[in-house]
Amino acid sequence: MSAVRHLSLLDRALVEAQRALETTLGDPPALRPCPARAADPVLPKPARRHAAGLMRINHVGEVCAQGLYFGQAAVARDPATRAHLLDAAQEETDHLAWCAQRLRELDSRPSVFNPLWYAGSYAIGTLAGLRGDGWNLGFVVETERQVEAHLDEHLQSLPAQDLRSREIIRVMKEDEARHADHAEQAGARALPPPIPQAMALASKLMKLVAYRL
Ligand SMILES: [Fe+2]
Ligand SMILES: [Fe+2]
Repeated sequence: MSAVRHLSLLDRALVEAQRALETTLGDPPALRPCPARAADPVLPKPARRHAAGLMRINHVGEVCAQGLYFGQAAVARDPATRAHLLDAAQEETDHLAWCAQRLRELDSRPSVFNPLWYAGSYAIGTLAGLRGDGWNLGFVVETERQVEAHLDEHLQSLPAQDLRSREIIRVMKEDEARHADHAEQAGARALPPPIPQAMALASKLMKLVAYRL
């Protein structure tokens, strides 16, 4: 009996490890087509580098969202909460794939620190999940609202001609808003200070590093 339990624990650990590797080093496929329809503009080198920096930040944001949601799902108590987290994670996989594609088009690449971003987010997700499902959903709301705000900043800051990146970001922003709304409706609790402030600080640090590396 205990051999069976050990095997299933090992199985679960292997699934988590495989997912982590796929997200951080592989190229998980999107289920929905990429929303970028405009022609790829010929951007001057500095503008191209800036657009790539912003899309690398967005890609890392999606890596973090995956780590957070899979960490939370691994310890969620209620099957409905777990299903909610895994559903949101699927749309984040689309975002991840679209950002990776745009980075390639901009002759750039994802952050070299993706395994670290994922591991950190997974640890935070697991800790949040262990506090209970209200907290779990509260983390989803806070994460999605912060991502929505930085996507807004990117829409301001991207080169005006880079319509392809803008098309991707607009759809991502709509998805993130929906993820936050759904989590609120599912019973998220408001996170007390200083948690939202600490999350904002961590995301500021991430953006600073991911813009270049
Ligand atoms: Fe996302
Ligand atoms: Fe999201």
